[in-house]
Amino acid sequence: AQDGGLVLITDVVNQVVDTLNDSFDGHYTHSDAMVTPASNLKFGDYQCNAAMKLAKPLKMKPRDVASILVTELNAKMAGEFEELEIAGPGFINMKLQRSYLERAVQTMAADSERLGIPKSPNPKKIVVDFSSPNIAKEMHVGHLRSTIIGDTLANLLTFKGHSVLRLNHVGDWGTQFGMLVEHLKDEFPAALTGDENVDLGNLVILYKAAKKRFDDDDDFKVRAREGVVRLQSGDEESLAAWRCLCATSRKEYAKIYDLLSIENLEERGESFYNDMLKGVVEDLEEQGLAKKSEGAMAVFLDGYANKDGTPLPLLVKKSDGGFNYATTDLAAITQRTQQEKADRVLYVTDSGQAQHFKMVFEAAKLAGMLNDGVSLEHVPFGLVQGEDGKKFATRSGDTVKLMDLLQESIRIATNDVGGREVEGWQDGQELPEEFKRTAKIVGISAVKYADLSMNRESNYKFSYGRMLSLQGNTAPYMLYARARICSIVKKASGLEGVAEGSMIWPEPAPVLLGEETEIELARQLAKFGDVLYDVEEELYPNRLCDYLFETSQKFSAFYESCSVIKAETEELKASRLTLAVTTAKVLTKGLGLLGIEVVDRL
Ligand code: ARG
Repeated sequence: AQDGGLVLITDVVNQVVDTLNDSFDGHYTHSDAMVTPASNLKFGDYQCNAAMKLAKPLKMKPRDVASILVTELNAKMAGEFEELEIAGPGFINMKLQRSYLERAVQTMAADSERLGIPKSPNPKKIVVDFSSPNIAKEMHVGHLRSTIIGDTLANLLTFKGHSVLRLNHVGDWGTQFGMLVEHLKDEFPAALTGDENVDLGNLVILYKAAKKRFDDDDDFKVRAREGVVRLQSGDEESLAAWRCLCATSRKEYAKIYDLLSIENLEERGESFYNDMLKGVVEDLEEQGLAKKSEGAMAVFLDGYANKDGTPLPLLVKKSDGGFNYATTDLAAITQRTQQEKADRVLYVTDSGQAQHFKMVFEAAKLAGMLNDGVSLEHVPFGLVQGEDGKKFATRSGDTVKLMDLLQESIRIATNDVGGREVEGWQDGQELPEEFKRTAKIVGISAVKYADLSMNRESNYKFSYGRMLSLQGNTAPYMLYARARICSIVKKASGLEGVAEGSMIWPEPAPVLLGEETEIELARQLAKFGDVLYDVEEELYPNRLCDYLFETSQKFSAFYESCSVIKAETEELKASRLTLAVTTAKVLTKGLGLLGIEVVDRL
């Protein structure tokens, strides 16, 4: 590319088709995924399927569309691709030139920050709604998944140059706060004074106690119901008690976010939208979308039915006047698109909420809440199960506390690191200071990577043994693979010993590709930008994990067949060193986007 960075093949194809779009009657849209890495290298490196897609609306033969595209692409990409070929009915096979690969790897090595990867040509405002636990309830393993996946997506979109707003849509409003606030009035009167630091003890116990009173005591039930109304209409004492509850929960979440290094997550809970709820329902009513249904208000959408065939309503107002989960989400959509000017809103929750979001998005569209081009996307994920495939729980059947889960992973990692690094190590012993950081990184990244490396839509079985293993597509393996490359680089560049704990990278040199495994590795490295583009569009972090795993395997194959230190010439040695440096930097960057810190020794 002209500016010295890398080209993103998809960007170029988009540009080319854009210039042709007049003759294509505007039938091409960027969201059509039309460039994919080729399944088999004999077809080249990439395949472009745009012609197949365009042929139908244009009423042309795909091969004819393909030959128009090929002429333009050949002119534009003479520096990157060999002559393009049209295969079969109209696929365009694209094979990278060796000289391009050589330039690409050198460019990547010289740019630790971006590895030459361009920012998106269409920067967007993107809201990522993730984590989102519920106040006064335990943050569970579903919220952990949401936190890990949401953080990765936000990191990646930021890297691609989008303006990202990370929002924690905590459940801090709703009927349960009536009973909680009334309970606090009796048991923790200090919470009503406005002091948010009053010690409420364990919130789970408090929640259970309040719930028990609510279930057993009719007078309390009445009080709780009236309590919600008081709270929601702004009664100062009730609000003070509520704030105290929120502050207590917040402190608990902060510990988890801290351990996971989650940053810039802005808490903007359901209560934030309270003032907008009435207006949302009125608007739906005026438009004839919301109708009375058994005392409540609901939106009826075509095609949604209960199991028995009766229409399934989207509830927006309860019979007692309270509002629903969906009402808040509709208000939030308006706020995020109108005030925040979001082009894209991602909702990272378990797939159990798929129907809720489908209905909410549809209602928002019908109600005219969405400007053209705004995209609301549910990013669903599956369940975390125990190793036996059953519900994820402790041995006694209780829910697993997230803090315990993370600490257990660090504990096992501590023993693993101790066993490798400390002579005569005994499990449970304290690690020397220098290794503590490593053990913490290994423990935390194992949990993160195990989650991210699975297709997020499938359920996965939680297993400390598997996630902490040094073998397979795991965090310890990836960290080890990277550390090994670092030590190879240090040794070969004569910088050994100079930079314990922090890498000093040798200057990138011109890359000369000869051996098959060298070319393979270079091809893999040059694809990094395409993989990030794919995740940016499709939101599957496991594709980045797979890519990083393959990259370290291709490095191993290269290292087995090509000598770095004893290369035949100084130029070849410098070239191979540059391949190693680029590989290490790709792994560092990739893991960083996954929220994983690296260590230079493992
Ligand atoms: N608090 C919800 C839960 O725990 C998740 C909220 C997701 N975000 C949203 N805008 N609805 O299930």
